[in-house]
Amino acid sequence: MLVRPALLPAWPPSPKDLFGREGPLVLEIGFGDGRFTAWLARAHPHWLVLGAEVSGASVLRAYRRMRKEGLENVRLYHGEGPFALRNLILPGSLHRVIVNFPDPWPKKRHQDRRLLQEGFFRRLSTRLEEGGALLLTTDHEDYFRFALEEAERTGLYRIEVRPPPEAHLQTKYALKWKEAGRSFFHAVFTKVAEDPNPWPPLRRYPMAHALLKGELPETLDLAKTPVPIPGGIAVFLEVARGEKGFYVVTHLEEEDLTQDLLLEVRRSAHGVYAGVGRFGSPLITEGVKRAVRALVERLKGLGLEVVQDHT
Ligand SMILES: C[S@@+](CC[C@H](N)C(=O)[O-])C[C@H]1O[C@@H](n2cnc3c(N)ncnc32)[C@H](O)[C@@H]1O
Repeated sequence: MLVRPALLPAWPPSPKDLFGREGPLVLEIGFGDGRFTAWLARAHPHWLVLGAEVSGASVLRAYRRMRKEGLENVRLYHGEGPFALRNLILPGSLHRVIVNFPDPWPKKRHQDRRLLQEGFFRRLSTRLEEGGALLLTTDHEDYFRFALEEAERTGLYRIEVRPPPEAHLQTKYALKWKEAGRSFFHAVFTKVAEDPNPWPPLRRYPMAHALLKGELPETLDLAKTPVPIPGGIAVFLEVARGEKGFYVVTHLEEEDLTQDLLLEVRRSAHGVYAGVGRFGSPLITEGVKRAVRALVERLKGLGLEVVQDHT
């Protein structure tokens, strides 16, 4: 039931690939403990409900809930909502998007972390079907006004402010804020036009490694080295020595995607291997390839010679 984008089958997957059948596709972003996701799946058994959530602990809790309830029409993705929207959803295929109580990021300097920004609404318009809509419920008036303005600026939505439906006021956070006596805000953003940029899914590659001739170095001094990559940065955080060579703990931040992965520099049957380790099944993106290239450059600087280059 957990969706992990597999190594290279086509992106985005069809609803049939994900759910084993066709049906109206609904995305819930930031499902928390998943109680609304489960309600939605029970209330609309013919719908296909994809949830995206960044918190691993929440994903596990929700996953147990779906298993316990035996819900066959739910899939959970552990990661960023915008990433799921762009890479896991076919153009023009989304019936609804649900956002209940998004993190409000109230400080001015943190506003760029808010989910419902102009760029998000633009991308969303390419994935929503004709007449498809996003439903927002929040207790945070400032964020609510912000989301209305951001959507308004795109000119791609009809926006209706309505009283929140009762089911949206039964989430964990809704109950918490109800007890605290807060007010609630709800809006429906219905697609009326589409952004001309199709926002194609992230490009992935089958491999990123090189084979080099020469001696494995005694030490590899890389820690805290930043490498610029398209749309972000990679940082070699730490180098650990293993039996066959080195493991380089690497942090990457690309557009919509943050990954921590292990790069390896080790002896192999064919020379010295420098490339992505399998640990954690990372997605091999342009950024990952650039990080491996930077690693290979460092090895070249230490006197090794590239004999096969798949970076
Ligand atoms: C305030 S909680 C609300 C949880 C739930 N919707 C509810 O109403 O009880 C916000 C949730 O959104 C998740 N979240 C924040 N940013 C996210 C993103 N970019 N993609 C997916 N989930 C996100 C957080 O981990 C958290 O679980």
